[in-house]
Amino acid sequence: MHALPTLPTLAYGGDYNPEQWPAEVWREDARLMREAGVNLVSLGIFSWAKLQPSADRFDFDWLDEVMGLLHDQGVAVNLATATASPPAWLVRAHPEMMPVTAEGAVLGHGSRQHYAPWSQAYRKHARVLVRAVAQRYATHPALVSWHINNELACHVHESFDPETIDLWRQWLEQRYADVATVNRTWNTAFWSQAYGSLDEIGAPRLGPTFLNPGMCLDWRRFCAEAFVDLVRMEAAILREVTPDIPLNTNFVGWHDLPLINHRAIAAEIDYISWDSYPDPAGGLEQIQANALCHDFMRSLKPGRPFILMEQGTGAVNWRAFNQPRSPGMTRALSHQALARGADGVMFFQWRQSRSGAEQFHSGMLPIQGRTLAGHEHRIWTLTKQLGDDLTRAKAVAGSTIHADVALLVDYESMWATSHGGKPTRVDVMNEVTRHHRPLWERNVAVDLRHPEDDLTGYRLVIAPAVQLLSDNAIDNLHAFVDRGGHLAFTPFTGIGDTTTCLREGGLPGRLTDVFGVAVEEWIAVAPTHRGRVKSETDADPGPLAWTHFAELIHATTARVLARFDGGNELTDSGLDGRPALTQNAHGRGQAWYLAAQFDRPSLDQIIAHLLDAADVRGVLDTPQGVEASLRQAEDSTTVGLRYLHLINHQADPVTIDLKHYRGEECLTDPPMMAGHTLELPPLGVAIIQLDPPVD
Ligand code: GLA
Repeated sequence: MHALPTLPTLAYGGDYNPEQWPAEVWREDARLMREAGVNLVSLGIFSWAKLQPSADRFDFDWLDEVMGLLHDQGVAVNLATATASPPAWLVRAHPEMMPVTAEGAVLGHGSRQHYAPWSQAYRKHARVLVRAVAQRYATHPALVSWHINNELACHVHESFDPETIDLWRQWLEQRYADVATVNRTWNTAFWSQAYGSLDEIGAPRLGPTFLNPGMCLDWRRFCAEAFVDLVRMEAAILREVTPDIPLNTNFVGWHDLPLINHRAIAAEIDYISWDSYPDPAGGLEQIQANALCHDFMRSLKPGRPFILMEQGTGAVNWRAFNQPRSPGMTRALSHQALARGADGVMFFQWRQSRSGAEQFHSGMLPIQGRTLAGHEHRIWTLTKQLGDDLTRAKAVAGSTIHADVALLVDYESMWATSHGGKPTRVDVMNEVTRHHRPLWERNVAVDLRHPEDDLTGYRLVIAPAVQLLSDNAIDNLHAFVDRGGHLAFTPFTGIGDTTTCLREGGLPGRLTDVFGVAVEEWIAVAPTHRGRVKSETDADPGPLAWTHFAELIHATTARVLARFDGGNELTDSGLDGRPALTQNAHGRGQAWYLAAQFDRPSLDQIIAHLLDAADVRGVLDTPQGVEASLRQAEDSTTVGLRYLHLINHQADPVTIDLKHYRGEECLTDPPMMAGHTLELPPLGVAIIQLDPPVD
């Protein structure tokens, strides 16, 4: 299936904000879009004030004209519902809709996303706007997709205004029915936090020390639900007016702790899109983190490609220093999106702003002009080259990626882990990234799934520090191993239930029989400590080391593969001689327990060992910094077609042995094939349509 069935090709374009330009520029824009191969724009994302200049007046004339111009040039529209930046008249009429920070500051107008996510006044007016826009453009031939709001929770993810706190109490009443259950769930008996009635409950703002962890987790759930609810609210109107137009909202990605529930929002929309801004100064770490984000986004709608909705052509303007991406890097990163399952590559924004908050942010059409001093602007050259690339590669659209490996991710658990008062700072994002790295380096396709998702079809599932596991998740993981899957747990996984309450009796709770181990104690160590681990078996995983955190475990039925064996400064931990890495046969599968945060080389060896055991192989062996992936066509007419995608993120040329792959056609320009080797220049890319596999 394609991301956009009505645009069954690779989408190419960007955000288009015509309201900041006079009408003659719109005509030039539409013409230049066509010249650059643009076939899709996200239109009107911040246009609320222009579309509805006052409470009782809409002005669609200008947007009618823009939609018409775009359509005439063959550019389709991902039309925004325009709810991302409320107009000044609305703020004036409803000052109570403004977000309040934990410190009590009321945020003002003059920026964007200035609404409390649960504000009823905001919602009431947003509904009117969405309906008006939907009705106006329901049958417009340029409309191929709806863009709901924009980057939900990017700037404001919670608000402590009185209306929100009232709703929070109602939410608690719905969830727990009475205050006694709230007290029990949050264990408010401790530290004298007991509530006599729901009205006494405030929001977890700032406290002298740690706030109640159960309360904080529920507050995070409640805040995240605001965004699911906002999407649901807009989606209901859009589906009523235009049942056949696909819906999306652009996710921010996953650079900080995610403050929305992507999985719940994904269930409300038709395809996934996200905005990718890796720091070009961040080297391969950032490239891998970006690959991880793509994998995460792709996994939110299995079987349906996503769209890379925004990225920068050159510099952004919101970091402490904004090193521009080179055109080569932007091209390589655009191909990374395709290689990891995207059906489109888009940018923020089409034409760089002359003034306003983002005037120093690059666009597809640079502010300096297309040519200057007799030279074509390098960004305009890039814009056209990518248009050409995507046209050549259009056969890839609709194909998907098959992964044998899944990493488990659960936001609720992450929120709980981010709360203070732990043995040490467990950074779940970092743990997921660390476990993804060896897979990325081996070109092993990996999905990111929730512990309650259907895990059928995966050979290896790794759970990096998933602190909370529900009973359903535990049953799911039990069944996965019973059926023959390989499951690996890392420290701090499965130790609590969904209220943050620790499971007693030898953690990881009800999974102790699956792993054949029981965790006796958590051992946090100083960051300078490097612990050693010694192998116990013939299948020696090599010298292993760990840092930061370990667990004192007993093996019951598990086979011990490696034991703790001293370190540089830890004298009395009791770890020496205890199991550090175990394997347990359970049902038809195997369960592996990693009792320490292994360092990068060790984790690399362990994951290599797990891949071998689970019989999982990467797409191709490539030199460091060269990414390879395989997309497979699922369309009935193209079934069996596969596309090998190669990207050289490095500054040196590489030669790649294509091994058993036989290329039929190279979809990139220039075709760089010679027999069964492929020369990739620095930042070079290649998409090879493969011959059907030989039996
Ligand atoms: C986000 C927003 C855009 C723009 C870019 C700048 O992705 O959605 O409107 O502000 O950031 O990088």
